[in-house]
Parts: sequence; C-alpha cells; structure tokens
Amino acid sequence: MTGKRNEAFDVIVLGAGAAGLMAALTAGQRGKRVLVLEHNDEPGRKILISGGGRCNFTNLHVEARRFISSNPHFARSALARFTPADFLELIARHRIAWHEKTLGQLFCDGPARAILTMLLDECAAGDVALRLNETIQDVQHNGRFVVTTGNGVSEAPALILACGGLSIPKLGATGLAHRLARQFGLPVVSPAPGLVPLRTGDDMPEWVTGLSGVSLPVRVSCGKIAFEEAMLFTHRGISGPAILQISSYWTSGKTLSVDLLPDRDAFACLRQARSARSRAHGAAILSEWMPRRLAEILGPGLLGDKAAGEWSDRLLRGAAAALKSWTMIPSASEGYAKAEVTVGGIDTRALSSRSMEAIAVPGLYAIGEAVDVTGWLGGYNFHWAWASGRAAGDAV
Ligand code: FDA
Repeated sequence: MTGKRNEAFDVIVLGAGAAGLMAALTAGQRGKRVLVLEHNDEPGRKILISGGGRCNFTNLHVEARRFISSNPHFARSALARFTPADFLELIARHRIAWHEKTLGQLFCDGPARAILTMLLDECAAGDVALRLNETIQDVQHNGRFVVTTGNGVSEAPALILACGGLSIPKLGATGLAHRLARQFGLPVVSPAPGLVPLRTGDDMPEWVTGLSGVSLPVRVSCGKIAFEEAMLFTHRGISGPAILQISSYWTSGKTLSVDLLPDRDAFACLRQARSARSRAHGAAILSEWMPRRLAEILGPGLLGDKAAGEWSDRLLRGAAAALKSWTMIPSASEGYAKAEVTVGGIDTRALSSRSMEAIAVPGLYAIGEAVDVTGWLGGYNFHWAWASGRAAGDAV
C-alpha cells in the first residue's frame, strides 16, 4: 500500500484562484462534492496582491464590450447572469467595506485578504475540500476525469479548468489549463501578455527613458481603439493605466499614437500663448499644460529657442500636430513577468456560453483567465472570474 489518496468527487476544480473558488463554492453549496487542487501553498495569491492590496473586485460598468475575445459576444450570457450587484450582495453579507475609486472601479476599504477569506468561508459552507501543494501530474478521461497528483488519485465526472493563464509565473501561473485544453482537443487562441508595460524601441528618442517617473493624462490609440487615462514614463519605456489598457490590443510592429494634450486644441492654445505671453519660451508655456520635466524636453524640440512672439503659424501647426499625435512603435512588452493578465487562451467557440462546458467533451469546463476572455483594467478581470465561475458552478 502506498498510503496515497484515492477519492471520488462530483467535481474537481484545478486552481484555487478567483474563478476556481467561485465555481467551487457555487457547486458545493448546491450539494455537490467538490475538490479543489492547487499547487501553491496558499489559495488566491493574485487576489491578495491585487489592486495594490485593496482588490479592485468588480466594476460598475461591466459589459461585454469591455472584454477582449476573438468571440466577442461569448461573455454576455455569464455577465448578464452574475452582475456587479450580485457580487456586492455577497460582500455585504460578509460585511466587507468598499468604495468606488474612479471609472466605476470598486475596491475594498481594507486589505484584499477580506475577499479571499469570504471565498474560503463560502467554500467551507459548501463543504468544499481544498488541497494545497498538489502537483498535478496527469489528467485522464475514461468517462470520468482521473487526476493524479503527487499525493494520489482523485476522480469525478466533471473537471473545471480554473488554473489561469501565463501571467506572473512567480505567483503560480503555469499554462496547465492551456495544455490540458489541447490534450482534450480544445483549440487555444494564441496567448499574449496583457495589461503590461511597454518598452520603447531603438528608434525612440533618448529623452523618453530620461523622463522616468513623469506621469500625465493622455489619449493613447492603437488603430481604432483608444483610452484616455494617465501614462507614466518608466526607465525602460511607458506604463500607467492608459498604456496597460492599450497593451492588451497592441501586437508587435503596431504603431501607438499618443495625444499629450487630450483636453486641448493644441494649435489654438499655442496661438493664444503667442499673443498673451510673447516673451515666454516653449518650455515655460508647455509646462502650464504638462509636467515641467516633459515640457523642458519638448519645448525646445518642438518650438525652437525663440520666444513665443516670434513663432510662425507653420511652426505652431507642426508643434501642435506632434503634441496631439506622438507616434511610436514599442519594441516589446515587459512580458508575462509583469503582465496583469493573459490575452487569448482556451477558444470560447469550443465552450457553451451558458455553462462554460466544452461542447465536444461533456463534463469538462473552463473558466476565468484560462479562457479567451480578457477584461480591461479596472476590476473587469475579477468580474469575469466570478461570472464564469458562477456559470460553471451552477451547471456542473
Ligand atoms: P488565477 O491566476 O487567479 O488562479 C489560478 C490558480 O491556479 C492559481 O492559484 C494558480 O496557482 C493555480 N495553478 C496554476 N497552475 C497550476 C498547476 N499546474 N497546478 C495547480 N494549480 C495551478 N484583476 C482585477 O479585476 N482587479 C484587480 O485589482 C487586479 N489586480 C491584479 C494585480 C496583479 C499584480 C495581477 C497579476 C493581476 C491582477 N488582476 C486584477 C487580474 C486578476 O488577478 C486575474 O484576472 C484573476 O486572478 C484571474 O482569476 P483565475 O482564477 O482565472 O486565475
């Protein structure tokens, strides 16, 4: 005898993150015998560090168009059946205080651990068995799903893939969900890092990296997609909410266009400054509208060294165009080590949008970041984890 486990359940969930715990508590409270297998030594690591430690757990503006997927309507059904109000009701029962920050983003007032504790308490109420430090060695399907780990064998008629994407291997990401999907014949949309800082290319002026730490509101676009939020210069390139958002749409070789004065008609402002402050130089004038360090670099470059009174309309038109549309081709993203999410994943065309069950493999489900549904920055990704987890937990 090896002393290893050999147990039967109704449902096995792989991954004790946001989506897996939501699916587990939902199924458990429906009376299903649920096992959650997690390879980390604690559940929900990303929840604990999310939102700067305050967990941006949902967004008031959840709607399918704020999610990226090669099958754009897929998320609608699950999102309609589990709304931000539903999650707020859950956290109200656990007396978790929260606030809206900006743009509908809801955060805990206190530490993010409250959200994890709530999920674990709800799992306990559903008698969910949670096993940590489990290395998944093999998964087979012989009518039932048979999962072998270093500690034994567990089997169940339903298996939920909830082991996330490829983002932040340091926190436990392994790509297991994608591998198992392929093993069971489900297609995977090419994954890529999303919500990730971008590096500036060799063609980028040196001043860009010299501005590390400077932040300003911008409108950044990539093709037809645009975001108006803050951009931050880093020592390797650009980051901040606007850049993280656009990074999920950016692919290698694509050009980004940045409007450095999103709320202003730059030409009209410069002309007005020419008559009102004819002795001032470019840096002084630009610094009224943007951080001084940036103005000191852009001023001489765009407006020369003459005082405003000597500026020609032609010069102003060129400067205004450059300020409204600074174009660049990032050289790369900072990759999965820094990406908040993974774009792409298990192809949703192979799943039921109602239950998250694989159409061709009854009993196999995929939820959360593992699938090809990626939210914008601002609580959308957790909301997808809750909504897809609830859909699968209700269906198993
Ligand atoms: P998640 O990655 O959370 O869980 C997967 C689980 O599976 C993990 O516990 C992992 O260890 C486990 N696992 C992986 N491979 C395994 C294997 N081989 N064997 C066993 N277990 C395995 N979103 C948001 O909406 N608001 C926010 O504030 C933030 N903040 C944030 C900050 C940072 C730093 C990051 C990296 C990400 C965010 N996110 C976010 C994104 C959010 O964390 C993410 O979308 C969800 O956690 C996805 O939930 P899942 O349960 O699908 O995957």
